[in-house]
Amino acid sequence: MKLAEFTDKHNAFRKEVRDFALKELLTESTEIDRRSEFPWKIIKKIAKRGWLGVPYPREYGGLGLDATSYIILVEEIARVCASTAIMIAAHVSLACQPVYVHGTEKQKEKYLIPLARGEMIGSFGLTEPNAGSDAGGTETTARLDGDNWVINGNKRFITNGTVADMIVFTATQDKSKRTHGISAFIVEKGTKGYEPGKEEDKMGLRGSITAELHFEDCKLPKENMLGEENEGFKVFMETLDGGRISIGVLALGIAQGALDYGISYTREHSLNDKPLYKYQWVQKIIADAATEILAARHLIYHAAMLKDKGAERVTEEGAMAKLFASEVATRVCYKIHSILGQDGLTKKYPLERFLRDTKLMEIGEGTSEIQRIVISRQILGR
Ligand code: CAA
Repeated sequence: MKLAEFTDKHNAFRKEVRDFALKELLTESTEIDRRSEFPWKIIKKIAKRGWLGVPYPREYGGLGLDATSYIILVEEIARVCASTAIMIAAHVSLACQPVYVHGTEKQKEKYLIPLARGEMIGSFGLTEPNAGSDAGGTETTARLDGDNWVINGNKRFITNGTVADMIVFTATQDKSKRTHGISAFIVEKGTKGYEPGKEEDKMGLRGSITAELHFEDCKLPKENMLGEENEGFKVFMETLDGGRISIGVLALGIAQGALDYGISYTREHSLNDKPLYKYQWVQKIIADAATEILAARHLIYHAAMLKDKGAERVTEEGAMAKLFASEVATRVCYKIHSILGQDGLTKKYPLERFLRDTKLMEIGEGTSEIQRIVISRQILGR
């Protein structure tokens, strides 16, 4: 569905991505889930089109499009395969973005350009075994030793963890200072003392990688600090403001994908010789789902377009978009499932996958409870 605010360029880009997703990803998506396989083949095709760098300027290896175009990309990919979409989201909005905003020219040259061109895969290391929702409780440590930072600690639930060529991550110099003792760093795959660890066996998004990262006396040159010393928490929170729009649109894509299947199912199946779509209870489910999806779409694209208009912060709008869209996606998947009945439980239809995939949307990049804290603090203050 189109919004009045989309330009012809946005609509043309959406069509290009939709055509690609239907041709290259639709059949593959079931297998990616079944085999729990990272979608390398598709990612390479996506990279070749420049889509791993959609919103970054051409001089930094990107396509030079706007944030809205990037959000369109994630929506259309998620509508078909959420595992592929979350890989893109973690790479573009969590790994590239902080380098683009806070990186030195040298860091942009070394990391952003190959990331945006799809020659490197990026990741974002915030969550830890004892610091999930409370990101200020980061326990991974950074100690300055001559010209090097020495890193010790563990990260958990890191999207793209084992396939990432570079990871932006947080570590603290002084835990007692909480958020004010945290800095952001960049580590490259293959650095001595750094090892990606175990991959999670998840209920959903089975084609995406969620892994542990381990640091043991890992030496990083001083220049691998990203942004100012002790400002890492803010770098990461600001990154999550945009990242939450991506998770919101991932949820929107899943909800739209579920609705697409729901609509075709009601047209193709009958109950007591009457097509399903002629039943009032079915019409209600479809109408409610379409209405909620449109409302979510407005919130998400409003936040993306604010970014494109140069808004300094989209903390509140990003959190609202993610909170609402992720809860809508769960509701829509459940309701559409009730139209399919027993069929919805089978692998013949992708709804059971959509239902499994959508749960992460209420958890990743801050749970719904965290979004409510973020929103209420913007309104009420701390
Ligand atoms: N932008 C810029 N600065 C920000 C900010 C933002 N969005 N949010 C907070 N800050 C600043 C504050 O202004 C404050 O600065 P001062 O102290 O100088 O005034 C500082 O950061 C500390 O902020 P708070 O006091 O609000 O911090 P807090 O400890 O109370 O935590 C929180 C706030 C909202 C709960 C935060 O910890 C949070 O967002 N937690 C959730 C973490 C999260 O989303 N994790 C997801 C991991 S990534 C992931 O899931 C990706 C994936 O792979 C799927």
